[in-house]
Amino acid sequence: MENPKIKIENLNLHFGNQHILKDVNLEIPKNKITVILGPSGCGKTTLLRTLNRLSELNTEAKIKGTIRIDGSDILNTNEDVTVIRKKMGLLAQRPYPLPMSIYNNVAYGLKISGRQKKKYLDKRIEHYLRQVNLWDEVKDRLKDPASALSIGQQQRLCLARGLAVDPQIILADEPTSALDPISSQMIEEKFVELSSNYTLVLVTHILRQARHIADHVVFMYLGEIVEQGSAKDFFENPQQERTKAYLQGQFY
Ligand SMILES: Nc1ncnc2c1ncn2[C@@H]1O[C@H](COP(=O)(O)OP(=O)(O)OP(=O)(O)O)[C@@H](O)[C@H]1O
Ligand SMILES: [Mg+2]
Repeated sequence: MENPKIKIENLNLHFGNQHILKDVNLEIPKNKITVILGPSGCGKTTLLRTLNRLSELNTEAKIKGTIRIDGSDILNTNEDVTVIRKKMGLLAQRPYPLPMSIYNNVAYGLKISGRQKKKYLDKRIEHYLRQVNLWDEVKDRLKDPASALSIGQQQRLCLARGLAVDPQIILADEPTSALDPISSQMIEEKFVELSSNYTLVLVTHILRQARHIADHVVFMYLGEIVEQGSAKDFFENPQQERTKAYLQGQFY
């Protein structure tokens, strides 16, 4: 792959004496949607949380290898970890809006980047809420607490908050699993749109979703990468027996 956005080499992660990620080698293309698939417990969430250096918050974690973003290693570096994390927005399985108003949830992202003027904030907040198709639903109640929104709306709000930090990469861990079908579809369509400007890494269990929006697919099993490739090759012509079995629904 030419100029991958993220390149992982010989990544190994232990939690205590458990070997969770085993010699992971992976390339993630820039401004595309990469989907990570694999049965429960295979290490998808751990891999995602290692990309933005959240895994190391577990004091039991031992991490070796390199993760290069645009060529520079983000694991073995003196760079401030908060600067590294700011390059990536993380969308979790359930929305975690901050305990504040709808407006302030998005303003929070902007304020930590140092922009404070009310007029500027108002404009940007409208921009990000429009970007996630939420503006029309919330424009008359921006001061309401975010918790008053439906789960699907909250997830879109969290996406808006993430975008406001101006990341290059969006990491999403089963972001639609708590959502109704309409909200899920909205998020999927949004991801496709965002992929022209952002690198997206999406963990999902939903094969239909993967087939629908993936450009690139990574399949994991028991902490190892079994197969990776373009979505077309992966779904139409999988090489490994394990991949074939998974695609046929023989194990989850
Ligand atoms: N904080 C932790 N401490 C110890 N072990 C952990 C920790 N987090 C995850 N694990 C273990 O790491 C392995 C991978 O877990 P992970 O959550 O990454 O899997 P997953 O592929 O995301 O599964 P799922 O599809 O169910 O979300 C599991 O065996 C899990 O028990
Ligand atoms: Mg998980």
